Amino acid sequence: MNAIIGTPHPRLDGRAKVTGAARYALDNSRAGLQHAALVLSPIALGRVASINDAAVAGLPGVRLVMTHRNMPALRPDAAMQDGGHAHASFRPLEGDEIRYHGQPVAVVVADTREQAEHAAALLPVRYEARPGAVAHLPEDAPSEEEAGSLDVGDADAEWEASAVRVTADYEEPAQHHNPIELYGCIAEWDEQGGLEVHVPSQWAGGMRAGIATVFGLPEEKTRVISPYIGGAFGGKATVLATTLLTCAAAKLTGRPVMLQVSRQQAFPTTSFRPAARQHIRLGATAEGKLRALIYTSENQTCRFDDVSFPGGEILARLYDIPGMKMREGLVRTDVNAPGFMRAPAETPAVFAFESAIDELAVALKMDPVELRRRNEPARDPVKGLPWSSRSLLRCYERGAELFGWSGRDHAPRSMTKDGDLIGWGCATAVYPTFISTSSATLRLTSEGRAEVRCAAADIGTGTYTILAQIAADRLGLTPDKVTVRLGDSTLDPANVAGGSTTALASGNAVSKVAEQAREALFKALTEAEEGPFKGMSPASLSLSEGTVRAGNVTQSLAEAVSSLPRGKVEATDQWAHPEMPAKQSKMLWRAGSPQGGPDMESFTALAFGAQFVEVRINPRTRTIRVPRMVGVYAGGTILNPRTAHSQLMGGMVWGLSNALLEASEVDRNHAAFANADMAEYHIAVNADIGALDVEMLEERDDKIGPLGAKGLGEIGITGTAPALANAVFHATGIRVRKLPIRIEDIL
Ligand code: MOS
Repeated sequence: MNAIIGTPHPRLDGRAKVTGAARYALDNSRAGLQHAALVLSPIALGRVASINDAAVAGLPGVRLVMTHRNMPALRPDAAMQDGGHAHASFRPLEGDEIRYHGQPVAVVVADTREQAEHAAALLPVRYEARPGAVAHLPEDAPSEEEAGSLDVGDADAEWEASAVRVTADYEEPAQHHNPIELYGCIAEWDEQGGLEVHVPSQWAGGMRAGIATVFGLPEEKTRVISPYIGGAFGGKATVLATTLLTCAAAKLTGRPVMLQVSRQQAFPTTSFRPAARQHIRLGATAEGKLRALIYTSENQTCRFDDVSFPGGEILARLYDIPGMKMREGLVRTDVNAPGFMRAPAETPAVFAFESAIDELAVALKMDPVELRRRNEPARDPVKGLPWSSRSLLRCYERGAELFGWSGRDHAPRSMTKDGDLIGWGCATAVYPTFISTSSATLRLTSEGRAEVRCAAADIGTGTYTILAQIAADRLGLTPDKVTVRLGDSTLDPANVAGGSTTALASGNAVSKVAEQAREALFKALTEAEEGPFKGMSPASLSLSEGTVRAGNVTQSLAEAVSSLPRGKVEATDQWAHPEMPAKQSKMLWRAGSPQGGPDMESFTALAFGAQFVEVRINPRTRTIRVPRMVGVYAGGTILNPRTAHSQLMGGMVWGLSNALLEASEVDRNHAAFANADMAEYHIAVNADIGALDVEMLEERDDKIGPLGAKGLGEIGITGTAPALANAVFHATGIRVRKLPIRIEDIL
């Protein structure tokens, strides 16, 4: 094999993206397109008393005012976490009930976007508000339901016997998605009752299933198209209510309808990271051997769905702790359903826990890296299974070396530079290796090219490129000889591009069908009536540099494929890990997001990393700058170091954003998110980022699948906030247990 896997191949879709040739969902304008505008509720709780649609029906260009009175009946679909494909089981316009601020109450369709928005702004709606709506996580709220629990050993006894103890509470705010490409879609019904939807999607197949369910359509009459996505991060995994409303409006007008959700409207109509509070008790011996972890949390959800992201499962895999007890609870609030966002369980849980580990290191007067070294588990502490691979300590060693950690004076407030306080912090990064399944088709053509078809999504992460590399590697081609088609529900089913699963699942599927196509080609050539390979053993043939070879006999791939009766060779198959329970493979594309891992039958798989952050704090203004960050990760086989680097770097930037900037502020008087735009909701920009070093260690993992590649999608964000918070403590001696960390927290 030529070494194509593992080379830093530039993105195959890069040129199309920077030249504007890539067509994103809303680029698909067409003749007869009508435009929809949303009317959102200014109240959080109550009902719509009346809507005077006649008042705007005569305005220029207006074609439809859709309200709860005339919306077509929809069939139910559960939220994705409950086995459906919807963002939320509750859908606006199905009745007059208002359950959260910003809930759509009407959709106006007109010939132009301006006409639709004008009419939407003028639509008279009367509301009957009910008091008592709550959009924040109340300070004293008891958890109403358990979202997760986990027990290992006797945590209480270990806690009692611990010589050194840390007790701390941590708090994270709600946060909202802000991708560059916003939300919306184009929906078009054809004359046979089929529906085509252009919508940015992490899961074309799942969205098709969800939309088909809701409109009672056969899946083959429903198509979701999403070849390019301008930022997803979990917000484009499920079927949003706004997508269903657009499909319903297009059904009523009989014309294609486009909805473009504005930045402000995106806040209440898409998923968000729910607010959480976490309580940690950590016990250790005087030598720094961990004994007990007692963890409880309260996690915000909505009234209608049990959206929860229990972090205990992941925290229990970090260190060797003989006694662990985790109890995670849900708190119901009057908000739209929260949902997937940038390592939803891991980001908050790891922030709290890795902060607590740092607090323990301080209590022990121990180097926090050394503390981790003393608690490295030989096996999965929960299941007792061996690790598929685990390189956490190697990541720490290399990270410490790159960062210059040995120069750290561990005492807080001990380091300064030009009058500024300097702080150095570190934390573990971790993400479970979810093992999902995927199918793919590969066709060898008479032009000597390979065509890959797979409904997986490239959410900007490099999927087009790595799949081309994998196919090229297996077929002795260069990646530019491979065409990859993704993001269309008519292609071979793949799982959601979420949970950092796509490289592993679709990568192994493409590898499998490429090998099958190659073997089918060899078989056909050797069994042919004529041709240079006639009568040879298929095993004696090989394929490299676009040429089929057997000893001294060669033929170009193009000629070889052309010589076959069908003029092509095709292979279609599904890849699933042999340990993936059969029922999970069958569930695929129908319900939920089936995934094995992190624990399988015979091993437990996670990816690890170590992050180091330097903060520089002005002693008077207390502004926090981050001159440098170092992240060292091990993710099994790195398929493409260039796209992997970019993804990890992006994760660390989001991590800084999470630590210092992002918070959805709740206006408690109106139970509303008050800073719903990018002027008030801050995310990290270029000027916030200093030097950012990413390194990937070599790691072999032969348990998780033939490619040995772990997902890298979400691990980059997970260790940044605690490393940064730990650095702030080191600089100031002030422990901030609430994100984002602001000037007023370190006065
Ligand atoms: Mo990602 S938050 O798993 O889509």
